Formats: sequence, structure tokens, C-alpha cells
Amino acid sequence: MAREQRRRGPPRLGQVRFFGSVVAADSFREDAIAGLSLPQKTLPPKYFYDARGSRLFEAICRLKEYYPTRCELSLTRGHLGEIARFVGKNCTLVEYGSGDSVKSRLLIGALHPAAYVPVDISEDALRNASDRLRREFPWLSILAVNGDFSRPLKIPLLTRQGRRVIYFPGSTIGNLTPEEAHAFLRMTRGQVGPEGAMLVGVDLKKDANLLHAAYNDARGVTAAFNLNLLARINRELKGDFDLRRFRHYAFYNAALGRIEMHLVSLRRQSVNVGRYRFAFEAGETIHTENSCKYSVEEFRALAAEAGFRGAKVWLDRKGLFALHGLVAV
Ligand code: TRP
Repeated sequence: MAREQRRRGPPRLGQVRFFGSVVAADSFREDAIAGLSLPQKTLPPKYFYDARGSRLFEAICRLKEYYPTRCELSLTRGHLGEIARFVGKNCTLVEYGSGDSVKSRLLIGALHPAAYVPVDISEDALRNASDRLRREFPWLSILAVNGDFSRPLKIPLLTRQGRRVIYFPGSTIGNLTPEEAHAFLRMTRGQVGPEGAMLVGVDLKKDANLLHAAYNDARGVTAAFNLNLLARINRELKGDFDLRRFRHYAFYNAALGRIEMHLVSLRRQSVNVGRYRFAFEAGETIHTENSCKYSVEEFRALAAEAGFRGAKVWLDRKGLFALHGLVAV
């Protein structure tokens, strides 16, 4: 990325600059083979987001059972003035996992950042969102980074201007284990620097029935999203998963404070991925995702360990979801 920046010079205002894929082509194969070889088979959730997966995820966000998106949108709308005062004008707004950038649109309108740096693993979602934002906010510099935020990324040079603020909505932080979240927050603390801040959307602990419904929707969109990971392995890695022999399974693990998503093998079977073969017992699962839930205090403690002070927190009216305003200490 640094090289591209030097070659083409600094981006002008109101222009979209696209930083091409920094996701290694082979990493999907290696990660999938490694994960399926573990005693508890796992697949990393970042591979959910191919073009079809990104569309299915956007459909999940519109489901009536899936409350987090609605709650976060309404709490952001309801507290926009305060959020803007917390961040200040002319910042560089970096967003990790920007997807369709629906929530960012609200923030950009209210904060008037000097630059917006959306980072997303899905090239399609990133290009569509950047094009829309360019039309809607012609004055804004957009530096779109097609990459994997779970690894350290060099943020393009322009972002040295103004206060750096990292926006991490959607409770994506819940998809990391607490240990991974700690390491992630340490990394972002380094990226924003001593004057920096973060806005982090975090799903709260709540009635397990509500959680269960959110991850087991009646129309089966979440199931299709989960199973798409196997379809993607079939498409891209020469796999032969029979999707009728696996079923979506999500439950709340109260001891660990997290929703776990799995794919259950409905019978004893074996599956090939390229030249590898994996055996499944009936009922054996592939663990595909965690979605950890944090009380306000729990999340503030996690942030404090990484060098952030929980300065502000905004909740929706029903108290289901939290947006944390963190400042570097
Ligand atoms: N981060 C969100 C969550 O944990 C969104 C999400 C990721 C999600 N993967 C999902 C939602 C699978 C439903 C199903 O809730």
C-alpha cells in the first residue's frame, strides 16, 4: 500500500482511491485445511464474506429477529449530536468491516470527517459502498482498503491528518474471543495514537431466548449464510461437501457469554477438499463463529487493558445494544 501511495501521490479531496486486495490468495485454502484438521473442526468466520455471503449477511441485518442492526442504527441516529461532539470535526474515520457502510453514512453526515477509510474483506461490498458514498458526499476523500483487519494493516498516508478515529460497529468485536479482542484493541490503540479514539458497537448480554431467535431466524437466512461457507469451499477449493448432510446450529453458551455457530454433520460421512479428506461422525460439528456478548462494565474492563478509557456509552431504548466511545489513555 505504501508503494502505491508514493507512486500516485496523495489522493485529492473528493476522490475514491482503491487499495487492492491484500488478502493472500492461498490463505483460504491453508486456513480451511488447518481448521478442518483440528479435533474440534473450525473455519474462520472471515471467509463467510464472499459476494454471496456479503449479500446474505445484509439480508440477516434486515431480519425482524436480528435486533442488533436495528438497535445500533436507532441508537446512532438518536445520539448523533453527542457522538459528533465526542469525536470532533475533521477526523480521519477508519472503519473496519465496513460492508454496506449504512451506519457510516449517518456518522459521515454528522462528523464531517476529512477522510473516510473503509476496510473490508469483500471487494464487491467495498466497491459498491464506496461508489454510493462518493455520489452522496462529493467533498469526502475515500480511501477504500480491500483487506483483512484481523492482521496489522498499514493505513494510507493521508490518514495522518486530523484525529484518527476507528469505527468498529456491528458487534464484530464479539466475533473475536476475548483474548483476540484484547490483541485487536492493542493494535488499534497503536494505530490511533495518543490523541485517538474508537467507536465500538457491542452487543449486550441478555435473555438467551432473544439471542437464540436472532441467530436462528424463521426464514433460514442465517442457516443459508452459515452453509454458504461449505458451498464456497466447494466452489473455490474443490470441495465436495453435500449441503443436505449438514445443518446450521446456533446456541447461547452462557458460561462463556457467547452465541456459538456450528455446522452439524447429520450422519457419519467423509468429505474431500482438494487432495485432503476429512471424516465426520454423526453429530460432529464445525465451529464457524462466536458472537461474544459483553455488559458495559465487562467491555470497559477489556478496553482498559488495551490502553483505552471508556469515556462514553450510548444504548438503544430497549437496552439491547451499546455503542462505546473509547479514548486513548
Ligand atoms: N457481528 C455480528 C454478530 O455477531 C454479525 C454476525 C456475524 C452474524 N456473523 C453472523 C449475525 C452470523 C448472524 C449470523 O451478531
